[in-house]
Amino acid sequence: MRFVDLIVKKRDGKALSTEEIQFWIRDYVAGRIPDYQVSALLMAIVFNGMDDRETVDLTMAMMHSGDVLDLSGIPGIKVDKHSTGGVGDKTSLVLGPVAAACGARLAKMSGRGLGHTGGTLDKLESIRGFNCFLDNDAFIRQVQDIGLAIVGQTGNLVPADKKLYALRDVTGTVDSMPLIASSIMSKKLACGSDAMVLDVKYGSGAFMKTPEAAADLGRQMIRIGTGLGRKVCAMVTDMDEPLGNAIGNALEVKEAVQTLKGRGPEDFTQLCITAAGLLLVMAGIAGDEERGRELARQAIDSGAALEKLRAMVRAQGGDVSQIDDVSKLPSAACETVIRARERGYIAHMEAMRLGTLAMQIGAGRRTKEDTIRPGAGIVLAGKVGDLVEKGAPLATVYHDLPLTQEWLEGFYGAYGWSREPSQRNPLIYKILKSGKADI
Ligand code: URA
Repeated sequence: MRFVDLIVKKRDGKALSTEEIQFWIRDYVAGRIPDYQVSALLMAIVFNGMDDRETVDLTMAMMHSGDVLDLSGIPGIKVDKHSTGGVGDKTSLVLGPVAAACGARLAKMSGRGLGHTGGTLDKLESIRGFNCFLDNDAFIRQVQDIGLAIVGQTGNLVPADKKLYALRDVTGTVDSMPLIASSIMSKKLACGSDAMVLDVKYGSGAFMKTPEAAADLGRQMIRIGTGLGRKVCAMVTDMDEPLGNAIGNALEVKEAVQTLKGRGPEDFTQLCITAAGLLLVMAGIAGDEERGRELARQAIDSGAALEKLRAMVRAQGGDVSQIDDVSKLPSAACETVIRARERGYIAHMEAMRLGTLAMQIGAGRRTKEDTIRPGAGIVLAGKVGDLVEKGAPLATVYHDLPLTQEWLEGFYGAYGWSREPSQRNPLIYKILKSGKADI
């Protein structure tokens, strides 16, 4: 097989065969196909797409490019969740403990944040001593013992995605539905869970700018997962404004703890409860979503979910006293309250811009080498639809270095204002489930 023939085939809008896709991934990972040829193929895929069969073949080839975790030693249905990424998205820190407190077994491998979105590992590592890197045996044992583990990906999980994603990032080929779907699903499937809930974000802070595009991505990922024998459902949710109020690692851990105590922001709590309802049905614990949501609320009200977070932190070497007293989590040297310049309703908040501003003060990384300032970030005082009086707080910024005028102007520029009451987007646009007509 000659790789150039695959490029020409895709350039001409034809489908690649299963063997051709396997050849591409196997030989690329082995270093036998150069980046410039794979870049050409990726660009042809951006323009001409892939059909469902090709996308499943690509997912399978990527998934089998490295280790695949075997969770079959853990009894019962193992569940997982994935978010396509957003600003202030700390859902795993609440959903994991809630699901585990209800009897589910959640085995999750997470990533670090890059650019305007935060990563679950960075959030967890703001807890002193927390170890995100368990070996596979310890990971499996912990899921068995306490029903919950959140760790970083081990070295040889889906090496094809590591290579391809790095190439896509610098060749303008990230934006392709089959490439995004196969990238996400190959990693999820290699982690070995039986069922998963996907949170596909849309809006200014997300990959997908419209709810329709996010729903298309959700459907495609469901088709891949169910085609490979997994239970998958997807929530299509708003990321036009940040999720919850806190943006930044330790600040988000604090907000997650507050949510597990029943005192979290309304939007974030709603998202976690909805996702838990779906997961508990897929895990066979609840007969329907309403019952699943009820169990999730009970787990929060009884304190059982918070206890699961404590158990996970303890098991992974973290300092539980920082969960019991969140004021012990890392903080920043300065706190600055930013106040509204005029009276008005918040009509719009640009999540991506707020995420980037938080990154600039140390809550995230510009490049993989950057270090995080765990206490840095922003806590929003209002969200879209709120009326803010002139001079009232818009947000508190936690920072170590002085805020520049440019940063402050950037912050004000992230808001759109209205004199009339304004409407929020619905947080949950759609829930997609396998086996339903619209998949
Ligand atoms: N997240 C991934 O893991 N892969 C993509 O291609 C896009 C988002």
